[in-house]
Amino acid sequence: MNIFFGENAFAQLSVLISNYDKFFVLTDENVHKIYSSMIASLVPEREVVRIVIPAGEDSKSIENVIFIWNKLLEGKAGRDSVLINLGGGTISDIGGFAASTYKRGIDFVNVPTTLLAMIDASIGGKNGINFNNYKNQIGLFSEPESVIINSQFLKTLNERDIKSGLAEMMKYAFVADASFLDLDTDNYLDFIEKAAMTKDEIVSLDMKESGLRKILNFGHTVGHALESYYLEKENYLTHGEAVALGIFSALYLSVKYCGLDDKWLFFYEMWFKGNLNMLNLNGFDVDAIYSYIYHDKKNKGGKPRFVLISGPEKPQIDVEVKEEDIKEAIAILANKFSE
Ligand SMILES: NC(=O)c1ccc[n+]([C@@H]2O[C@H](COP(=O)([O-])OP(=O)(O)OC[C@H]3O[C@@H](n4cnc5c(N)ncnc54)[C@H](O)[C@@H]3O)[C@@H](O)[C@H]2O)c1
Repeated sequence: MNIFFGENAFAQLSVLISNYDKFFVLTDENVHKIYSSMIASLVPEREVVRIVIPAGEDSKSIENVIFIWNKLLEGKAGRDSVLINLGGGTISDIGGFAASTYKRGIDFVNVPTTLLAMIDASIGGKNGINFNNYKNQIGLFSEPESVIINSQFLKTLNERDIKSGLAEMMKYAFVADASFLDLDTDNYLDFIEKAAMTKDEIVSLDMKESGLRKILNFGHTVGHALESYYLEKENYLTHGEAVALGIFSALYLSVKYCGLDDKWLFFYEMWFKGNLNMLNLNGFDVDAIYSYIYHDKKNKGGKPRFVLISGPEKPQIDVEVKEEDIKEAIAILANKFSE
């Protein structure tokens, strides 16, 4: 898999597309509205089949996979075809899944349009959909042919989604590269390429997540539980917001279980309050949120396992944590980060 950066990345996309007989572009309604003419101009002399699904996390559904498969079938997609996933992590997750399962797999290219997708979701070949209200329950590993990263897309992204991407970027500071500790809302553009390459490097060493790659789940055990819990509620959390909260819980548990200096907990609390928004956590119910942790794919023998750290760049995987401590680490979030 190749990753291309910058404005020239688009020239690369045109070259890539010219290798295929047919090309299909999957977007969501928001992205399509803004970038419709850009899609037409990609390869002006060629016909493109557009597949547009509603925006948002709810779209990562089996119904939408069926919709995409039908569009591919109607457009006679085959091994000579490519699906371009133009959008955020929702689009790369479902598009990668639909492309990889259609006729045992056709090629796909990710063109991320959100910060979170540029630095994380579009890279690494984890594709999937939500099922029965649980995140990413159905899916597979399958890498895109290429990822084309152009930060120009961020000019149209709203503040909430920019901030959502910042938390996933900060995750790299704790598990992989302490230089991300200097990240803030003023300088995040400078960190995009480094973040994407950090993810790519980790994935290339452990594609199927049997060891090292697990460090990227830092903050995600509580994060996914929160995201699932709020999925059906009016005050839903974005993926990045849920992960931002989950990182605080993971740091809190790291102090308790791995001897992390509590100055990092304080550092992160200040970073969160200085760079992200306070969140609407109405309806916060520790027991209900905890129940989602039982369905986490990272559990072993039914017991929750966490990625924790003993310091920046010092991750520890598969740490077994007691129920009462997890609940304590969840409960503290409502006091600190609720608006
Ligand atoms: N596969 C992985 O490794 C991985 C990693 C992290 C996250 N994820 C997944 O990614 C998803 C979250 O991704 P996301 O935060 O990108 O959300 P998203 O794809 O839902 O996009 C967020 C919002 O931004 C809009 N949008 C996208 N690009 C835009 C642009 N350039 N201008 C204006 N609006 C734009 C979308 O329409 C949507 O409303 C979650 O489902 C999460 O589970 C996957």
